[in-house]
Amino acid sequence: MIEIIPTILNKDFKEVKESIKKVENYVNWVQLDIMDGIFVNNETWNNPDDLKKIDSKVKIEAHLMIDKPIEKINDWLDVVDRVIIHFESSKDGEIKEIIKRAKDKKKEIGLAINPETHFSVVLPFLNDLDLVLIMTVQPGFGGQEFKEFNLKKIKALRRIWKNGNIEVDGGVNNRNIKRIKKAGANLICSGSYIFNNSNIEKAIKSLK
Ligand code: DX5
Repeated sequence: MIEIIPTILNKDFKEVKESIKKVENYVNWVQLDIMDGIFVNNETWNNPDDLKKIDSKVKIEAHLMIDKPIEKINDWLDVVDRVIIHFESSKDGEIKEIIKRAKDKKKEIGLAINPETHFSVVLPFLNDLDLVLIMTVQPGFGGQEFKEFNLKKIKALRRIWKNGNIEVDGGVNNRNIKRIKKAGANLICSGSYIFNNSNIEKAIKSLK
């Protein structure tokens, strides 16, 4: 099942809420980029308590680009439907612990890998993950160029993980979306291509 997931990267919560409103009638999920200025050299709004006040029509996944996610994971699991942590920000034992905490709270859990990280690092966790997020740009900023070499990684993971959810995030647009789907991704994130478009509905439709 192909899902288009608009990704929201904003500095303050008012903008986050506005961004969700702009897309919530056209998609089932949105992704909130959460950056702490440590794991990546950018900082976004990142206060999970704010989400207690909104009831959005869409499901929300939080993409934690933060240092030591184990310290914040419970707060995020309480307020979103799915949390995605980075392999590069956790030690193996912590990843298993975070997966356990997500399951205990009946929330979905995903593991993200950066462009330079080999996909084999996710293999030990596959049976317990709801998705693997393959970053096709270096995390930290929207509007970057899609790194084509990651298509091989998507294909390789799909060959091993026939029915798993493979999510792609970074530089996706209407010109590379076909190759990304053909490689085997089924959850497609897009930020600037959607939000910089004057007609957001049309932009999302063009990716579908
Ligand atoms: C990068 C973020 C991506 C980014 C996507 O650090 O994780 O979600 O915002 O934006 P585009 O689609 O513009 O690359």
